[in-house]
Amino acid sequence: MNTNPFLTPAVEIKRRKNPKGSYSHLDTKELLEAVKESAHSTHRADLDILLELFLDRYQARQNELDNLNRELEERIEIEVNIGKENHKRYEQQAKMAAMGEMMDAVAHQWKQPLNALSMMSDMLVDDFRTGDVTQAYVDELSNDTQTQIEHMITTLNEFRNFFRPKEEKKSFGIKRCVQSVMLLVNDEFLKQNINIHVDSDKEILINGNENEFKHLVLNIINNAKDAFNERDIKERHIFINFYEQDKKIHVDMLDTAGGIPLHVIDDIFKPEVTTKEDGKGTGIGLYMSMQIAQKLGGSLSVKNSDKGACFTLEIPL
Ligand SMILES: Nc1ncnc2c1ncn2[C@@H]1O[C@H](COP(=O)(O)OP(=O)(O)OP(=O)(O)O)[C@@H](O)[C@H]1O
Ligand SMILES: [Mg+2]
Repeated sequence: MNTNPFLTPAVEIKRRKNPKGSYSHLDTKELLEAVKESAHSTHRADLDILLELFLDRYQARQNELDNLNRELEERIEIEVNIGKENHKRYEQQAKMAAMGEMMDAVAHQWKQPLNALSMMSDMLVDDFRTGDVTQAYVDELSNDTQTQIEHMITTLNEFRNFFRPKEEKKSFGIKRCVQSVMLLVNDEFLKQNINIHVDSDKEILINGNENEFKHLVLNIINNAKDAFNERDIKERHIFINFYEQDKKIHVDMLDTAGGIPLHVIDDIFKPEVTTKEDGKGTGIGLYMSMQIAQKLGGSLSVKNSDKGACFTLEIPL
């Protein structure tokens, strides 16, 4: 008889025919219970079965999660692309709208010097007939025509600069920028009896894209102009005031047009929110203005005062 213990055949661990079958219907909590039970009982061999079940379930969950993540990433990419395309479209629309408005402004701005030039040439013809044309007369006339033409060239240059894509960031003065916008719109605004008051004397410098800042100012004063006209307001004033306070640059733009309609005030910086008729507004002006404010590192806000809308651009110093 062989008594050598080392030669005793290993104890055979008997597995059930369908070991997972007895556990697979359990939920996770019950599985954990089964693990505890088997750890303290003679069924230790079941531990690896249970572990396998856990791993299977973990793997299945992990696969589900991976799929979900992939789907989410794809969906996010699609949404981001849609967002980018919409933004491009808005930018293009805003540019076209601004260009149309600026063309109107330039036409207004040119009307007066063109009239003046036309009058001067009529006068020259008459005065020549009556023999009043002297050397001094011609010198003065030449000076006057030069002034008118220079005014037209300045307007044209401002207009061209405005739409020339300048991506570079640089330091620019708020006061000078506001004045250059006013140079473009002044005649049209005066004709519509709108007075723009720039209250600040001290120049303040901002770092960013100058043309975009001009665009923002133009959007806001054009909205005020529309509100004055829609509501047939008599007292038409726009106040622009800029200053430094609490480590921020503030640019306040107030009007006396009665304020933003309350049903849209919370949404006016979103795209395509407008109270204007078809063809009169696309609802993109303030959306673009907010984008510009954010590119300058700041933000744009609005509230109504008892007189009208009050927009504030704030840029941390
Ligand atoms: N100064 C203001 N006074 C009263 N309402 C205003 C003023 N500025 C803006 N709003 C309101 O906010 C809305 C959104 O302005 P926004 O400039 O974004 O679009 P819009 O002027 O309607 O169209 P767009 O600028 O694209 O031509 C306007 O339709 C108007 O109802
Ligand atoms: Mg607008």
